[in-house]
Amino acid sequence: MQEKLKPDWTGADLLSRFVNLLINTKPLYQLMKAQARNVMINTAEKNGVPWRKNYQDLEQSNIKESLQELTNPNINYPDYFNVPFHAYDEGNMSWKAAFEVNSATYAMALRVWKNEKLTPETAHNRLRGSFHQVLKEYLSFPIKNVLDVGCSVGISTLALHHFLIQQQTEKVNTMGIDLSPYMLAVAKKNDEKNEISQWIHGLAEKTDFEDNSFDLITIQFLLHELPNQATKDIFQEIFRILRPGGCLGIVDNNPRSKVIQNLPPALFLLMKSTEPWSDEYYTFNVEETLKSIGFDYKITTESDPRHRTIIAFKPV
Ligand SMILES: C[S@@+](CC[C@H](N)C(=O)[O-])C[C@H]1O[C@@H](n2cnc3c(N)ncnc32)[C@H](O)[C@@H]1O
Repeated sequence: MQEKLKPDWTGADLLSRFVNLLINTKPLYQLMKAQARNVMINTAEKNGVPWRKNYQDLEQSNIKESLQELTNPNINYPDYFNVPFHAYDEGNMSWKAAFEVNSATYAMALRVWKNEKLTPETAHNRLRGSFHQVLKEYLSFPIKNVLDVGCSVGISTLALHHFLIQQQTEKVNTMGIDLSPYMLAVAKKNDEKNEISQWIHGLAEKTDFEDNSFDLITIQFLLHELPNQATKDIFQEIFRILRPGGCLGIVDNNPRSKVIQNLPPALFLLMKSTEPWSDEYYTFNVEETLKSIGFDYKITTESDPRHRTIIAFKPV
């Protein structure tokens, strides 16, 4: 039997179009969204992620004061970003979204190995560790300058930084860039020891970095939130700012994952209804796009049961 390349609930398949019709039936969607949210929070809390407490702690902190200082007022937010994401009407541009990302990230890691009894920390270490292991096979150490694109609240950036400093004695200069200053405010707070050189509010398609600035750039769980044109533009920009011989490491949902392809209807409905660019993401040929830009594409591998890691280099 031929291998299925993507889930039937994405792209132009009949099931996918039916799912889109349900999602676009607003009263039904609002009801589904509210119920799904309750289930998600209750499940996370049952599995050891103190969702409501984490939220309250951030809400009661002085974090909101840092927003202005982190915000680049010259940014034009693209239309694809100014849409609801993850059931938040303001997408990534709100405190509500930003205050829930820490919990949502750990809950996501637990879902990857949901048949094992793992603590949120163990599941999360496994999730990042599986990506880092693939990176490790391809990287030449020491690594000096690193950028995490779409860093969100910095969990991916800090995990990457910790992995890199374990591999070498030389200093690593790690930065994170994100389009949401709300996410960056939480990232700055998560970076308790100020280990990250800079948290940058910017558009990944058009950064202020000089050509050939980085040895390693990662894109972790961002591509599924982008339309195809934005992905191409970001790859093009990364090609410019990576140094010759520099590495691009991508990790995200795996369209070929049997777990994702066989999600129960309630879950794929939820996933698709809260990720507006799913149809584009799951049908996009990342590897061919990288090659067409000039990257030396190396490998796509199933780094865990739900996710794939893709490695490419800027030729020397
Ligand atoms: C799912 S989160 C990334 C999660 C994080 N990297 C991790 O692995 O935990 C995607 C992030 O990308 C950001 N983003 C979306 N489009 C972007 C763009 N064009 N440039 C920079 N950041 C972007 C969003 O604000 C959001 O915080």
